[in-house]
Amino acid sequence: MTTLPHNPEILTHTDAGVMTLTINRLDRKNAITSHMYAAMAEALEAANVDAEVHVLVIQGHESIFSAGNDISDFLNQPPATADAPVFRFLRAISSFAKPIVAAVCGPAVGIGTTLLLHCDLIYAGDNAAFSLPFVNLGLCPEAASSLLVPQLMGYPRAAEVLLLGEPFMAETALEMGLINRIVPPAEANALAQRQAQKLAAKPLSSLMETKRLMKKGNASMVAERMSEEGVSFGRMLQAPAAREAFSAFMEKRKPDFSAL
Ligand code: COA
Repeated sequence: MTTLPHNPEILTHTDAGVMTLTINRLDRKNAITSHMYAAMAEALEAANVDAEVHVLVIQGHESIFSAGNDISDFLNQPPATADAPVFRFLRAISSFAKPIVAAVCGPAVGIGTTLLLHCDLIYAGDNAAFSLPFVNLGLCPEAASSLLVPQLMGYPRAAEVLLLGEPFMAETALEMGLINRIVPPAEANALAQRQAQKLAAKPLSSLMETKRLMKKGNASMVAERMSEEGVSFGRMLQAPAAREAFSAFMEKRKPDFSAL
């Protein structure tokens, strides 16, 4: 049985083979700090080897999935090495051996969208708004999204979502193959639970082997791309474009990249 230290911003509970992880920092739109990444990494690492956990559910609130990385954290304690909690979390989710079901409502910004690329079933509220604004923040993609987004959507659409960084809604995400189904926001978490319970009733060894085989062709490329992105991301976090973008966000103004 997994027992984790209580963290009010990352809630976990396990019931009938399903571990549910809830991102719960509503006053900051579920923006994720390095403490939260550490808690998420710890939860996933424990669940991966806990025989009582067959399926993981990741959810936010029906109004917001996640505003992505906490921007003041990016300014004050940027992830400096591959051991940083964000990278540990990304390794844990991308190598998680059991099925992951996600329920996504409201904005899913940055890592709020890229973490979904490592989930198996995704149910979205009709208010879900996905975005990958890395370029707008002076950054580059993470979570192997520079590999997985073009694979999923084809290069032209990937260029639109990764270079322009414009949000796209649930209907587009469904059409692109990012998500499985759209439901009213109040129903997304419950649907994810029902689907997770169905999975949890199946033989775990078959689920894990099927997932391993489906992911096998990409697994080493994902790991390699994630570490290459991590090096660039870490460098770009300290560069003038990102510092300007983060300061502008904190000061509630538009960034000015004209002098860079
Ligand atoms: N990091 C730190 N604080 C954040 C945050 C983030 N990623 N996202 C939101 N917040 C804070 C806001 O600064 C605001 O703080 P305040 O109450 O002190 O002013 C509070 O959370 C509420 O956010 P607000 O922007 O007023 O909510 P909204 O409903 O109008 O918009 C979002 C929600 C998610 C669309 C918007 O907050 C947003 O775009 N956030 C930044 C996303 C981003 O660029 N993330 C980085 C990805 S790498």
